Amino acid sequence: MSAGPYAHLGVDLTEETIFTWGAPPLKFGAGAIDEIGFEMAQFGARRVLILTDPTINELGLPSRIAESLTAHGITSEIYDGCHVEPTDDSMDKAAGYAREQGPWDGFVAVGGGSSIDTAKAVNLLTTDEGDLMDYINAPIGAGRAPKGQLKPLIAVPTTAGTGSESTAMCVLDVLSMRVKTGISHWRLRPTLAVIDPLVSLTLPPEVTAAAGMDIVCHALESYTARWYTTFDRKQPEKRVTYCGSNPVSDLWCEKALTLLAASFRTAFRDGSDLAARSSMMLAATFAGMGFGNSGVHIPHANAYPIAGMVKSYRPPGYPQAEPMVPHGMSVSLTAPEAFRFSFPSAPERHLRAAALLAPDAEKLNDPGEQLPSAVIGLMRDIEIPNGIGAVGYTEADISDLVPGTMKQQRLLATCPRPVGEDDIAGIFARSIQNW
Ligand SMILES: NC(=O)c1ccc[n+]([C@@H]2O[C@H](COP(=O)([O-])OP(=O)(O)OC[C@H]3O[C@@H](n4cnc5c(N)ncnc54)[C@H](O)[C@@H]3O)[C@@H](O)[C@H]2O)c1
Ligand SMILES: [Zn+2]
Repeated sequence: MSAGPYAHLGVDLTEETIFTWGAPPLKFGAGAIDEIGFEMAQFGARRVLILTDPTINELGLPSRIAESLTAHGITSEIYDGCHVEPTDDSMDKAAGYAREQGPWDGFVAVGGGSSIDTAKAVNLLTTDEGDLMDYINAPIGAGRAPKGQLKPLIAVPTTAGTGSESTAMCVLDVLSMRVKTGISHWRLRPTLAVIDPLVSLTLPPEVTAAAGMDIVCHALESYTARWYTTFDRKQPEKRVTYCGSNPVSDLWCEKALTLLAASFRTAFRDGSDLAARSSMMLAATFAGMGFGNSGVHIPHANAYPIAGMVKSYRPPGYPQAEPMVPHGMSVSLTAPEAFRFSFPSAPERHLRAAALLAPDAEKLNDPGEQLPSAVIGLMRDIEIPNGIGAVGYTEADISDLVPGTMKQQRLLATCPRPVGEDDIAGIFARSIQNW
């Protein structure tokens, strides 16, 4: 029953009626990175730090950006120590360098989610006081909000995956706790995203596959997330970046799925196909504009322990120095089973998402299988390992993986169905092999 002055309209202002949505301005297209100098000059910056990883640095993209900055009277330095899948140590090291060599008027992040997330943390730690743990999401960290505006940050994605160029969060591994977590606050969102599909032509097929599955899961999890009105009403200062699925996020996710359906397999098989690469870059950003406001759920919550507790798996196409399960891969491995679990809570959304991702698929007798089957068909075609078993986990590991998922309550809260430890254990057990 509705109460209050708008009860006759069916509106109860003690329940949640509000959603929020945000994204940075974008500059998209071939050659866009050569306009970064012009863009940075608009912010009045004189001295800028470019953050990247060693592989991207060798490809020469940061020095090309430095030339564009010089042409607009801006001096810059390149820091190429961003760790692939950043840790608290690697972020502290980057922030330490930036503090010693600063002050900076702005930052450019060029790379995948790893470099962009590192730059977000460096911007925060060199502008505001405190250390990482003060800002990391509670209960792992203190969840403090930045006091004021951060410096201009231009994000230049070189993978088609995370959508970090449009989101308000950064993800890191806290090594001492063996847990992956993040910092999320709207002030972390880059000031401008410059997306140039030409820079993605050099992506190895394995990174194309794993990062692309991150896009798929962002779009699907966001689209099937709990609807925003089903949460408790929040006070304005308590509004979170993830507010549940909503009409604006839905639009971006639907469009991302359509782009993925038409371009993912081609981009994997023929990395030089610029049309497919462009669609993948658009899809990544679109999905970022979706999930970055609505949220993700079980597949991402499960990905944290799958990546964090890795034993000896070393994926081809990635740096071989340390074992790792890349983010997009870790997210996809339990996705088919997670969507079987979430199906009854919103069948029509799961079916619509399946139709967008696999428009030519036959109608199955069991509607709950339509989306898992579309996801598995894609994973097989792009050679994602077959289940968590293929990256080194057995039945005996499940009791250790489950608590890692249950710590991600911020993500599980977005699940369209209440989810407990036994549900997660079952999802892991049935994801040891996906086909
Ligand atoms: N902030 C967010 O919203 C968000 C969302 C999802 C994931 N993430 C995080 O992002 C990280 C993963 O990022 P990612 O998947 O973009 O990959 P990445 O940044 O980890 O890079 C993966 C590998 O690809 C290489 N590479 C990147 N671009 C290349 C190019 N154009 N040519 C050749 N090689 C290239 C890198 O050097 C690296 O070896 C994880 O830490 C994940 O948790 C963040
Ligand atoms: Zn992700």
